[in-house]
Amino acid sequence: MKKIKISPSILSADFSELGNEIKRLEKGGADMIHVDVMDGHFVPNLTIGPPVIKALKKNSKIPFDVHLMISPVHKYIEDYSNAGADIITIHPEGTDNLKSSILKIKELNKKAGVSLNPETNIDVILNELDKIDLILIMSVNPGFGGQKFMPEVLAKIKELKKIRDERKLDFDIEIDGGINFENSKKAIEAGANILVSGTTVFKSNNGDIKKNIELLKSK
Ligand code: DX5
Ligand code: ZN
Repeated sequence: MKKIKISPSILSADFSELGNEIKRLEKGGADMIHVDVMDGHFVPNLTIGPPVIKALKKNSKIPFDVHLMISPVHKYIEDYSNAGADIITIHPEGTDNLKSSILKIKELNKKAGVSLNPETNIDVILNELDKIDLILIMSVNPGFGGQKFMPEVLAKIKELKKIRDERKLDFDIEIDGGINFENSKKAIEAGANILVSGTTVFKSNNGDIKKNIELLKSK
């Protein structure tokens, strides 16, 4: 079984203190830093881009898990790689050619992730699974933190885990959106091994990051 990892989303951090917030996450036991990149076009919200990621990267040694909610994504992949992304996750709807975008990420020696929106079927990635390092299952519609978890996406996680076993593959399964101390257990049970969390990590228990990360990992 894969080790359970927590990837806190800095979308819920104090944006006036981002460097310190990242240090706080690393100290609190975060396994990676989830960076939500939104372009105001692919999703209705707008966040940060490569220069900010590059600056933040200096504050931490743990991997940067960069979730690109932008379109067209292909021509920007290299910029995020240069900025210091360790995992680059794209949405199939954000590129004309999913395979070539995945290969572009791999050529840059980064881990390639593909994210599926709640309404996106796993069929769109079945031909590329051998090239994918991580599948990010959205449990909310992308765009904003603090939304309600959609339990119906757990079925996709179970199905992916089954296919991973059958094909003897090794990709990670990450879940993103509305994760709290109750549904985290269900997500782990279904087969997710990386949990993204913004609101729960930063706001629960008066912002006790260490405690919140431990609670999210516990089964
Ligand atoms: C949603 C983002 C998420 C999300 C996580 O578009 O991809 O990373 O903001 O935040 P919570 O845990 O608050 O749902
Ligand atoms: Zn995300």
